Amino acid sequence: MAVLTIPKENKVINNSQEIREFFNQRSIFFDQWECDVIFDDTASQDEILVAYEKDLKPFMSKGGYQTADVISINKLTENYDLIRAKFLAEHTHSEDEIRFFVDGKGEFWFHLESGEVFCLLCEKGDLIAVPAGTKHWFDAGKENPFVKAIRIFIDMSGWVPHYTDSKIELEFSKI
Ligand SMILES: [Fe+2]
Repeated sequence: MAVLTIPKENKVINNSQEIREFFNQRSIFFDQWECDVIFDDTASQDEILVAYEKDLKPFMSKGGYQTADVISINKLTENYDLIRAKFLAEHTHSEDEIRFFVDGKGEFWFHLESGEVFCLLCEKGDLIAVPAGTKHWFDAGKENPFVKAIRIFIDMSGWVPHYTDSKIELEFSKI
């Protein structure tokens, strides 16, 4: 279940409804999907996408999203340090970055134009849509990363990161 942290206010919010309202007020979509299927490590991308179809299909057709896939990051992932560094520097994308956590966990950090900085720890069942143009970074942790997530795109080319070079991410780290 998601946990929202607002470091400058020393605030941690665990309540899903409060988290939903917090993101709603900032025009950021956050949702939680349930699924009875328990996947093991051999589950294929298609098995996972089918298991979440009842939520995934209406979400995609409503938002005009065209493709979905499943990414896995774990301790066996090659060049994890390089992959982590790519996600860890503050950046934006030209389209929404949408992730649904099938398993594992990771932190999405947001840096809004208002100056607010907050972190959403996403875990199994959490969906977050980082709006296009919103400054953010992501961390699955330095050691033993574990993320299994559905990615949802309009056009995958929109996922290219545009780095801000602000280095703001160095001021914050939690996992
Ligand atoms: Fe991103």
